[in-house]
Amino acid sequence: MCGIVGYIGNRNAQPILLQSLERLEYRGYDSCGIAVLSSTVKVYKDAGRVYQLGKALPKNNSKLGIGHSRWATHGKPSKINAHPHTDCSGRIAVVHNGVIDNFQQIKDKLTEEGHLFCSETDTEVIPHLIESYYQGDLEQAVQRALGDLRGSYALIVLAADHEELLVARNESPLVLGVGDGENFVASDVPALLDYTDRVIYMEDGDVGVITADEIRLVNCNQKVNRETNVIPWTIDDAEKGGYDHFMLKEIHEQPRVIRDTVAGYLSEIEPVIDLGLERTQFEDILLLACGTSYHACLVGRYLLEKLARIPVRVEIASEFSYSDAVLGETWVIGITQSGETADLLGALKKAKQLGCRTLAITNCFGSSATRIADQTFYIRAQPEISVAATKSFVAQLMAMYLIALSEAKMDIKSREDLTRELSVLPDKVQRILDDEEQIARHGKYLSTYDNAFYIARGINFPMALEGALKLKEISYIHAEGYPAGELKHGPFALLTPNTPVIAIVAKDDTYEAMLTNIKEIKARESPVIAVADEADEDIDKFVDEVIRVPSVDSIFSPVVNSVVLQLLPYYAARERGCSIDMPRNLAKSVTVK
Ligand code: BG6
Repeated sequence: MCGIVGYIGNRNAQPILLQSLERLEYRGYDSCGIAVLSSTVKVYKDAGRVYQLGKALPKNNSKLGIGHSRWATHGKPSKINAHPHTDCSGRIAVVHNGVIDNFQQIKDKLTEEGHLFCSETDTEVIPHLIESYYQGDLEQAVQRALGDLRGSYALIVLAADHEELLVARNESPLVLGVGDGENFVASDVPALLDYTDRVIYMEDGDVGVITADEIRLVNCNQKVNRETNVIPWTIDDAEKGGYDHFMLKEIHEQPRVIRDTVAGYLSEIEPVIDLGLERTQFEDILLLACGTSYHACLVGRYLLEKLARIPVRVEIASEFSYSDAVLGETWVIGITQSGETADLLGALKKAKQLGCRTLAITNCFGSSATRIADQTFYIRAQPEISVAATKSFVAQLMAMYLIALSEAKMDIKSREDLTRELSVLPDKVQRILDDEEQIARHGKYLSTYDNAFYIARGINFPMALEGALKLKEISYIHAEGYPAGELKHGPFALLTPNTPVIAIVAKDDTYEAMLTNIKEIKARESPVIAVADEADEDIDKFVDEVIRVPSVDSIFSPVVNSVVLQLLPYYAARERGCSIDMPRNLAKSVTVK
C-alpha cells in the first residue's frame, strides 16, 4: 500500500506535505513525490525516501498540493513510476493508493486517442482519463473518470486553475483533516495529527471537493455528511519517544497495551468478562487473518478449544477466497491490526455473503474492517508505526484471552485464578524488558547466521511461527518455524552447525517431548537457544544458551515468549544494520490483493 496526502489552505503547502508523508512512510517507502500548484502544476518525484526528496526541492510558496509515498505494485521503484502522475498537458496531477484492475484496457483506448504514457503504472491512466473528459468542470470530469475505473482507489486530484482538491475513495482508506481556513487529506491519521485532531473518515463511493474553507462530499451524486471524529491520541504516540526505533518503543509499550486492552473487561469483584458484544448464536468459530495476526488466530484457536470447548477453524485470509468450507452457524472473527488488509476485508465480505455473523478485532478506529463486520472489538495498542507488528500482536492475544474467558465453561476458582494471572501479566512482561540485555546478547549471536529454525509444541507452536516471521521480516535471516515433532519428518536434512535452533520450552505437558527433540537436534550439532521458564533448573544441561522468562500459567506463556521473540530479531537486525522500522519490500498493511 502507499501513503497519500493533500493540503489546501493559507500556509506553505510543501513542508506540510513532506512532514505528513514522512508520517506515512510505514505504508510504503520505495519512491515518493509531491505536486504543488502556484501558477502551474509543479511535480517533484524520485526513487528513495521522503527526506531525500525534501533536501532536493526548490523553495516555493504554493498553498495547495498533493503527495505520495509508494509501495510498488505496477512497475519497479523509479523516478518515472513514482507518483504524482500527470496528463498530457501536465495540468492535472494525481496521487493514488490501490490497484486499477482495468488500467490496460483504458490505457489502450486512450493511446489510440493520442495520449502518451511514460510509466509502467496503473495509476497513470487516471489523470489522462480525467483530461479526456475535462470541459472546464473538474468535478464532473473526475466523476466521469471514476465511472470507468474498476478496482481499489484512494486518490487526490490537483489541477491548474482550480483552487480545490478532488478526492475519492473506493476500498482504500482516506481520511480528511478538518482545520480552520485549511483542510488536509491523508491515507491515515498519523499524517494529520501535527495539524488537527478532527478527522472525517471517507466511505466507499465518496467523492469530495476540498477547498480551504469547505469539505463537500457526495456519494452516488447525493450530498452526504460524514461524522467528524476527535482522535483520542496525540502525535507523541506516533513519535519514537527517545527510542532508536519505533519497533523498540512499541515493544516497550506492551505492559501498558496489555493493561489498556483488558481494562474495563476484568472485574475485581466477580470473575466474569463482558466484552459488550451483542451475543451471537454460533456452533463453531472461524478465525481469519494475515501475517502476524494469523499467528494470533492460531493461539486463539488453542484457547477457545481448551477453555471454552468451542470447535475452531483458522484460515489464512488470502486463501479463504478459494475455500469451499461449509459454514453453518459459524461466528467469523477477522483479526487485523490496520483494519485495511485487502485479503482480510475480502474474506470478511465472503463470510457475510455466506450469511455468517462477523466480528472484526482491530486497532484502528474507522478502518474498513469496522465498516464491513457486524461488530468490532478494539484492541488498545494505539498507533503502531513499525512495519513488524509487536504490541498489536500481544494486544490481539489479549483479545483472544478475553473472548475465550468470556465463553469459557469452568468453575469459579479456575476462572478467578486465570483472571488474576491475566492481571499480573504486565508486570511479568516488564521484568523481561528490564532484563533486555540478556536477549540483546543472544540477538548479536544470532546475527552471525544466515539460516535458523524455531520449534515449539502446543500453544507455543504459533510462537515458533511468529518468531521465525519476525526474524525474516527485519533481519533478513531465513528462518522457519515448526511444530517440534515435525522437524524430523524432513527439515532435519537442513540441520548443520550453522543452523541455530530456537526452542521454546514451556514448563507444561510438552516439556518432556521438547527435551527429546532438543537431544535429536544436538545429535546433529546444531546450536540450540532455549527460551525457558525461570524456574527450569534442568534446561541448561541440554542446550547451548538459555533465555529465561518469568514463570506463568502455561496458557499465558505465548505472551511472555512473544516479547523475547521480538527482541531477539530486533538485536540481530540492529547488529546487521538493517532498516528495522521499514524493512525492504514490506508495508505496514497491504491494501491490494
Ligand atoms: C503485513 C505487515 O503487511 O500485514 C504485518 O507487515 C501484518 O506486520 C500483516 O501482520 C497483516 O496486517 P493486519 O493489519 O491485517 O494485521
